[in-house]
Order: sequence, then structure tokens, then C-alpha cells
Amino acid sequence: MDNKDTYLLNYKGYNFVATIIDPDFLENLDDFEIRDDDVFIITYPKSGTIWTQQILSLIYFEGHRNRTENLSTLDRVPFLEYNVRKTDFLKRPSPRLFCSHLPYYLVPKGLKRKKAKIVYVYRNPKDVMTSYFHFSNVVVTLEAGNDMEYFMKRFLDGNVVGSRWFDHVRGWYEHRHDFSILFMMYEEMKKDLRSSVLKISRFLEKELSEEDVDAIVKQATFQNMKSDPKANYDEILKHEVGKRTDEGHFLRKGTVGDWKHNFTVEQNERFDKIFQKNMKDLPLKFIWDLNEE
Ligand code: PPS
Repeated sequence: MDNKDTYLLNYKGYNFVATIIDPDFLENLDDFEIRDDDVFIITYPKSGTIWTQQILSLIYFEGHRNRTENLSTLDRVPFLEYNVRKTDFLKRPSPRLFCSHLPYYLVPKGLKRKKAKIVYVYRNPKDVMTSYFHFSNVVVTLEAGNDMEYFMKRFLDGNVVGSRWFDHVRGWYEHRHDFSILFMMYEEMKKDLRSSVLKISRFLEKELSEEDVDAIVKQATFQNMKSDPKANYDEILKHEVGKRTDEGHFLRKGTVGDWKHNFTVEQNERFDKIFQKNMKDLPLKFIWDLNEE
């Protein structure tokens, strides 16, 4: 275990949030007991984690869909490796929903039995980097993004929580046959939320009525989540994570192509070259702008 700096804790080549990770938990992660009906959302940071938490929570819990229960998303779909609320995972009733930023080689080995399911959400890395840059300037648990040039270097070198985006996505994609996994693209979810909800629920073998689907789609839109205290994480950010200033939210813009307002022409060209070099042989599709199709 290597503490590269005050913000990152490197374990087996992967960077965690130093201040909130429990190294003992990491040591035992491989043997963490997986139940056949567990469901995991796995993402690289800033790729749509909270959004998918909301969707899965709405799919699984009627009391969430019809607003009769008042539980925050983080309690319904806790983070596996950042167990900030110290939930006893062994006591959670099935089916357990989790989310995680782990790379393929660090997840509990029980996932390879291919019974428990994984929804892997990826997003075009220019928007990931943009979202990450702004978020890093908000939270106290991450190194400040400073300016985009500084952050771009940290991001491309993998000196951020989550390490290199390229390795995360490639690793999960190339090892997809070892798991029961569905790949979802943030931009497709943005383009057609209803079809995305149906795709996810089919994969999870959850039957939903038309009204259920309507309720899920309605409550999973950016605008509705942003104004819903159980879904927007504003309180968590303020009281559990910690903010540098009063500004900033988990739900910032929720758009496709915001990188265009944040990258210089030169940064964009540099990024494209590195993307090509790292990803050209990977058959995953990417959408950089919703007007491009
Ligand atoms: S984290 O910190 O890794 O858990 O962040 P994560 O949730 O993965 O990513 C945050 C970005 O997802 C956007 N988001 C949404 N976009 C569209 N629709 C909905 N409903 C939605 N919910 C969250 C959020 O706004 C962050 O992206 P940016 O570009 O910063 O707005």
C-alpha cells in the first residue's frame, strides 16, 4: 500500500480516496461474500454513478417509485469500497444493490461466478475530465483541480482517484466475459432515458409496468434529481464529504459536450491523440456531442 500524497492511497496499482478508504477492508475485498442476487453499478468517477444509483433504486423499490419511503440513495445503493456510513453489508437484506469505482481486477472474486450482475456505465472521457475537474475544485477529499491544464495532466497520467480512465474502461471491457455485465453509455441514457431504463430492467430481469417505467423516468431526469434532496447528494456533500466553498454540486450540468466550453483547441487535439493511441482498437462506441449523429 502506497500513500502517494495526502489525497491518494494506492493499493495494487489503483488510486483510492486516501481519507475515506479503509485499508483493512481492501485487504479482505477479494473474499467479500457475493450473493447471487447482488447487483453492482460500476463506473469510473464522474461517469453517471449517482444517476444510475437513482435508476436502480427506483427499479427495485416501490417505496421509492411512489415516494412513500424516505431513504437517501446512498442508503439504498451504498458504495462498496467507501462505506462512509459504516453499514454492515452482511446484514443487508437481499437483493443488495452496491456501487463501486473498482477496476475489474480488484472486485470480489465471487462476481466471477456470473450470478450477481454488474451494470457498467461509461461516459466520453472529455466530459468525464471536465466534470472531474470542477468536482475536484469543490470537495475537500480530492486534490484541487486548480486550472484545466494542471488537472488534464493529473487525469491523463492517472494521478487521480480511479487512476487512468483508459485502464478502467479497457480493463472492464476486455474482461467482460468473466462477469455478468451490461455496458451502458451515459450519452445513450441522456438521449433516451426510457429505453435505457428498459434495457437495464431487462438485464436485471425486473418486470415493470408502464406506470412504473413512467415513474422511474420522471424521477431520474437531471432536473428532478437536482431538486430532490434524497437524490441530489447536496447534504452528503456538505456534511459528510466536505466542500471547499459554498459553491458546487454533484449534479452540476448533466449535459453532453460540456468539454467544449472547458478545453482549448490545443488541449482537445492533445486529448484526441492520446485517446486514439489508447483506445483505437477497442470496439466501444463513444458520443462526444449529441448533435453529432
Ligand atoms: S461520482 O462522484 O463519481 O459519484 O460522480 P458521478 O455520479 O459518477 O458523476 C457525476 C456526473 O453525472 C451527472 N448526473 C447526471 N447527468 C444527467 N442526468 C442525470 N439525472 C444525472 N445525475 C447526475 C452529474 O451532473 C455529473 O456530471 P457534470 O458534467 O459534472 O454535470
